[in-house]
Amino acid sequence: MKKRYARESRCYKTARVFPPDVNNHNTLFGGKLMAYIDDIASIAATKHCRQSVVTASTDSVDFLHPIRPTDAVSLESFVTWTGRTSIEVFVKVVKEDLLSGERKIAATSFLTFVSLNANRTPIAVPSVVPETEEEMKLYETAPRRAEARRVRRKESKEFADFLTVNQPWE
Ligand SMILES: CC(C)(COP(=O)(O)OP(=O)(O)OC[C@H]1O[C@@H](n2cnc3c(N)ncnc32)[C@H](O)[C@@H]1OP(=O)(O)O)[C@@H](O)C(=O)NCCC(=O)NCCS
Repeated sequence: MKKRYARESRCYKTARVFPPDVNNHNTLFGGKLMAYIDDIASIAATKHCRQSVVTASTDSVDFLHPIRPTDAVSLESFVTWTGRTSIEVFVKVVKEDLLSGERKIAATSFLTFVSLNANRTPIAVPSVVPETEEEMKLYETAPRRAEARRVRRKESKEFADFLTVNQPWE
């Protein structure tokens, strides 16, 4: 199957922080940022395979610095690694104080998408070719994250078997 460069999936988004988007600390609400992350990551995954994808897992989101109303929030997303049908996507979130110009990495995230055909069956995806130092580092460290995902998925499935679907208010 065809290979794709990591750069072919790269995409960007920049937004302001408006009053409805903040939490009680007057910083960007985490759920709002997570929606941005899922959105841009799904675009990167789709650009990589040019097939339909679903989010299988948000593997990690690390909030490193609060994002304030005077900041612009910029997200960069690209595919870092693939399995047979799964696609790992990295999202880097940079905040920029619009008054001082100071920039910081505000958050980082890894997500896994699965490519599906019209019958919602997982289908094979192209592998990824890293080029830059950042892409290479993320590619080389990906097997460790894939193994952690495998273990967590197994534990989640086992745990789900113990959970009840009964609702407490019924
Ligand atoms: C994701 C989904 C399609 C996987 O289906 P499945 O029948 O379990 O598929 P498989 O067991 O064949 O796994 C397919 C691939 O997905 C990966 N995968 C499945 N669940 C995963 C998870 N929770 N985390 C990470 N990877 C996962 C597998 O490792 C496998 O990767 P590989 O082909 O690269 O080795 C299915 O669980 C699903 O539809 N989930 C709901 C997704 C959704 O609705 N997302 C929107 C958010 S609400």
